[in-house]
Amino acid sequence: MKIFLDTANLDEIRKGVEWGIVDGVTTNPTLIAREKAPFKERVKEICQLVKGPVSAEVTALDWKGMVEEAKELAKIDEHVVIKIPLTPDGIRAIKALSYEGIKTNATLVFSPMQAILAAKAGATYVSPFIGRVDDVSSDGLKMLEEIVIIFNNYAFDTEIIAASIRHPMHVVEAALMGVDIATMPFTVLEKLFKHPLTDIGIERFMKDWEEYRKIMGGE
Ligand code: G3P
Repeated sequence: MKIFLDTANLDEIRKGVEWGIVDGVTTNPTLIAREKAPFKERVKEICQLVKGPVSAEVTALDWKGMVEEAKELAKIDEHVVIKIPLTPDGIRAIKALSYEGIKTNATLVFSPMQAILAAKAGATYVSPFIGRVDDVSSDGLKMLEEIVIIFNNYAFDTEIIAASIRHPMHVVEAALMGVDIATMPFTVLEKLFKHPLTDIGIERFMKDWEEYRKIMGGE
């Protein structure tokens, strides 16, 4: 499973990249706005750091506007993937961009049917938002599982990005389903490291090592 960071914050991306476990980044207008940085420059900086797929979202709502914006964003860096909302215009734009070899990520996907449309239009990635489905008292992981089954049934090339991840168990469940990618906030990535027995284990090893060094005369 590939790990993407769902952030536009350079410090977070830098840390994840330094750990050697971050394969890509996803952004959206909210995440970009939070950073208060110029959009295109920030996308370029992220691409230079991660050297993997970086999703940048269009803000036009009509398909022609989406395609125009996508072409401009694609010029920023070879790693840019164009994030496009799952609307009729969005699907038309994804189809047009896939003909031109421009990579796309169908976003704001909340149902298996929407995911099928994205795959049929030739999206490179599809992003089901599991946390936001949970937020409305429905089952985000069930939706994700259904998408995985359907994509396997038809051997669709579109890769599934489990998005709107809120906690480590979302990541574990997505991995058990064989989802291609999980995109997560930096705080969730940090939590993946955590286990109390790891901390207790280190503490005990260090204590025993100190005792050993004392007995061995500092060797
Ligand atoms: O980037 C899209 C998605 O991951 C947003 O997550 O937490 O705002 O629902 P969230």
